[in-house]
Amino acid sequence: MSQRAFYVTTPIYYINGNPHIGHAYTSIVADVLTRYARTRGLAFFLTGSDEHGSKVADAAAAAGLPPQQFVDELVDVWKALCARYDVSYDDFIRTTEVRHMTAVVAAFEKLKAHGDVYLGAYEGWYCVYDETFWLESKLVGGRCPECGREVQWLSERNWFFALSKYRDRLLAHYRANPRWVRPERAYNEMIATIEGGLDDLCISRTKLEWGIPLPDGGVIYVWLDALLNYITALGWQRGDPKFATFWPPTVQLIGKEIARFHTIIWPAVLWALDLPEPELVFAHGWITLEGEKIGKSRGNAVDPFALADRFGSDAIRYFLVREAPLGSDFSFSEEKVRLRHNGDLGNDLGNLVRRTLAMLEKYRDGRVPAKTSTSPLATRFADLGQRVGKHIEALELREALEAIWEFIAALNRSIDDRKPWVLYGAGEARQLDVVLYDLCEGLRWLAHVLTPFMPGKAAAIHAQLGLPDAPTGDWQTEIVWGGMPANTLTRPAIEPLFPRLEAISID
Ligand code: MSP
Repeated sequence: MSQRAFYVTTPIYYINGNPHIGHAYTSIVADVLTRYARTRGLAFFLTGSDEHGSKVADAAAAAGLPPQQFVDELVDVWKALCARYDVSYDDFIRTTEVRHMTAVVAAFEKLKAHGDVYLGAYEGWYCVYDETFWLESKLVGGRCPECGREVQWLSERNWFFALSKYRDRLLAHYRANPRWVRPERAYNEMIATIEGGLDDLCISRTKLEWGIPLPDGGVIYVWLDALLNYITALGWQRGDPKFATFWPPTVQLIGKEIARFHTIIWPAVLWALDLPEPELVFAHGWITLEGEKIGKSRGNAVDPFALADRFGSDAIRYFLVREAPLGSDFSFSEEKVRLRHNGDLGNDLGNLVRRTLAMLEKYRDGRVPAKTSTSPLATRFADLGQRVGKHIEALELREALEAIWEFIAALNRSIDDRKPWVLYGAGEARQLDVVLYDLCEGLRWLAHVLTPFMPGKAAAIHAQLGLPDAPTGDWQTEIVWGGMPANTLTRPAIEPLFPRLEAISID
């Protein structure tokens, strides 16, 4: 991540039904990055909804509603998903908003004026589910190679984007910037696709009516419409200063299945609009159930609202980030979440907070002792903020959590080794104060480094320490030994931070 203003985007949600936990994943990851970036400076996090296309039109028809009414009703569920998981976006753009639709038409005209859009005849196999045309040779048993559904033959006169013209520039860009698409597997796949040759892209539909209308009939291809949200939301072409401040994005987060759109088509469209490409596109892995991507079939969706009710949104955020490196697939089960909840969160973190505050209550009437100028813990973990920050900047979120958990383990060990109850019994007041101060200060540090990952629980730890405001300040000044004011009255909560959860018995 660079020092300039930070801009992160997530793919805008297809709102043709209800969300599942896979949808929450990209948003939570982006939220972790943004909350950290905000401690360093200016940051902007964009998400939104992708509301056009035949899949949405079909779902609306099945619900017996006009498409606009259908999406107007459904969008609240998706916004509620963000709210439920504390996803702190700065803007939520809907592709049916006028600000987006006008800018998309302007983009289309610009592409035409640039000589990158032309009228041609199109015939081909089309998968409505994936909104994608396929070459006959790519079909598997006559069906869509992506989702296995039936494809239909479309024959239309359409507008085309001259993608093939950008092949050499794409290759040159890939070769000069081997880390602009990550992880490496995605980079390699995409460069191989470009090397294999690029066809021009059909960017209008004449038969479909649910989309952004073109001046001379038809609508804009839903993927071009959707991709443009990343610039229309910043007020591109409207003289909005946000555009100059934030474009190009620091990182565009995507799921790996939509890498081709974001790392081949999207940069070419941007170049055709005379705009710079994003600094980095990161393609994360899939959450799977029984080896299959959640969402591929209707039966295996996992309801993110029910999960947050059972485990708490912060525990789910923690699980999703901790379970696997960002680029890898991982399988989901409630039992795995429960084990992490009771183990890492309950035993390691929750008990540390509870034990510390209980001892303080018992030995010092809940008041933080006098400051110690330094401590072996402070020396050993002096660079905690930098280490965690560096991992987050490198999108190594799991490693960031591992570094935090090392600190938690050291704090727990220091209680076991230094035995405050023995010091108390022996009347070693000075030494007891040193131990207790270390622990309080350690918890204060934890509240800061945990904030991007678990904003609710981190704020709760901060509040239990008796500290005002949320722990959202600059780590360079906050995570410095001695920041915990002496004599602060702590406020331990009666309820544990992560109440132990029993396995749900099946019978
Ligand atoms: N509307 C398109 C994106 C257009 S962006 C110009 C889209 N929407 S989506 O709702 O299907 O996906 C939204 C995000 O959720 C994507 O990042 C996608 O990868 C992610 N996930 C959906 N299912 C997922 C899993 N099972 N696992 C992890 N993330 C997945 O694509």
